[in-house]
Amino acid sequence: MTQDTLKITDSRTNLTYTLPVDKGTVRALDLRQMKTSPNDFGLMTYDPAFMNTASCQSTITFIDGDRGILEYRGYPIEVLAEHCTFLEVAYLLLFGELPNETELKDWVYEITHHTMLHENTKKFMEGFRHDAHPMAMLVSTVAALATIYPEARNIHDPANRLLQIKRLIGKMPSIAAMSYRHSLGFPYVYPDNDLNYAENFMNMLWKMVEPKYVANPVLARALDTLFILHADHEQNCSTSTMRAVGSSHADPYLATAAAAAALSGPLHGGANEEVLKMLDEIGSKQNVSGYIKKVKEGHGKLMGFGHRVYKNYDPRAKIIKWTAEQVFAITGCNPKLDIALELERIALEDDYFVTRKLYPNVDFYSGIIYQAMGFKPEMFTVLFAIPRTVGWLAQWQEMLTDPEQKIARPRQIYTGHRSRRFLPIEKRALVGIAD
Ligand code: CMC
Repeated sequence: MTQDTLKITDSRTNLTYTLPVDKGTVRALDLRQMKTSPNDFGLMTYDPAFMNTASCQSTITFIDGDRGILEYRGYPIEVLAEHCTFLEVAYLLLFGELPNETELKDWVYEITHHTMLHENTKKFMEGFRHDAHPMAMLVSTVAALATIYPEARNIHDPANRLLQIKRLIGKMPSIAAMSYRHSLGFPYVYPDNDLNYAENFMNMLWKMVEPKYVANPVLARALDTLFILHADHEQNCSTSTMRAVGSSHADPYLATAAAAAALSGPLHGGANEEVLKMLDEIGSKQNVSGYIKKVKEGHGKLMGFGHRVYKNYDPRAKIIKWTAEQVFAITGCNPKLDIALELERIALEDDYFVTRKLYPNVDFYSGIIYQAMGFKPEMFTVLFAIPRTVGWLAQWQEMLTDPEQKIARPRQIYTGHRSRRFLPIEKRALVGIAD
């Protein structure tokens, strides 16, 4: 079979190069041979924000953004959301195959038996102010786990890696619930091994004085489904952070904390909290068109809209809308839904959003469900971080075991001064940059 190639003529030298094209991609390093002189460094690519650069090969998650397709290990997200539990999907993402009954039973047992936190964790948590943002508490506490499990630094041992993966998946809901209870001033609740992953999380969040917490099965299933939808999304900002930090061989707790920090930003996972603020600001259906007009005039963004990869309806947003119906049947409808539906209706007919292919993303409806379930908006991104931990860890493992990967280290195009003459302080002019 003949290999696809790309022929490039360098007009600076009139030399022609033939580069191999593999999977629709040329290797950036193949450009380095294009030099204007033996001392020239060679041609580089410039791609701020990685708009058109693949940083890895991966077998975990497939997205076709133009057609609105999302698959984990080849299975459509719609099928997984309907038929699987979150821990089953976690197994799929981490190990590449769906588990059989015995494998799933063992896996659930393992994760369940890693939900307990070291008692010291409470002391870290107690150090935070009562009004600390739960996401900041989560990031800091996950990083602090590195102090409890120093052996996690041995990232080259597969068995040791797996142990830390189980710990992180097991402990994430426990830390999240602790941060929630801390902000309310409630005592922390220990995990209950009789409950499944979502039910146990609900137990740690909401158990008060009753001897045994009983989760509403519809709400527990809805939470589990939302966890499935958020579990992985290939090379987004937080996952790329996980890979970049992990590529320096930092331990998985520190790398996960870094990834969670990236997730917290309002352009990424923090958008779900911003959507609720936006709906509050809009206030009622009648104000929607005025708000959209302001956005089009350049005053702010429609939070929960747009995506770097999806240029079609985010398939997760469709499933979330369906899940919302199940939740609202139990909790009663969130009045913000009407505003959100009107916002979506008007935006999807508006030329500004249509031409830019801006559709609701996963964060648009998730917050409305979470609020109906009783979560404060500050918890929404924490709820995103719990399942995304699985994706981060699957991608971290893949990165560490990929012989092509090295420490992440982009190049730059330096545009600043060179070789300046140094002036002693008394001879320097007033520049005024500190004003
Ligand atoms: N509201 C209004 N205009 C928008 C929006 C929006 N939400 N998103 C993009 N645009 C405009 C943008 O101003 C630009 O217009 P122009 O071509 O006239 O300059 C055009 O659409 C292209 O946008 P971009 O900023 O170049 O796109 P990007 O790929 O760099 O950004 C994004 C993607 C998700 C950061 C952006 O769409 C955004 O800020 N959305 C709101 C925040 C949000 O919902 N984030 C959650 C993302 S999905 C889940 C996750 O990652 O956690």
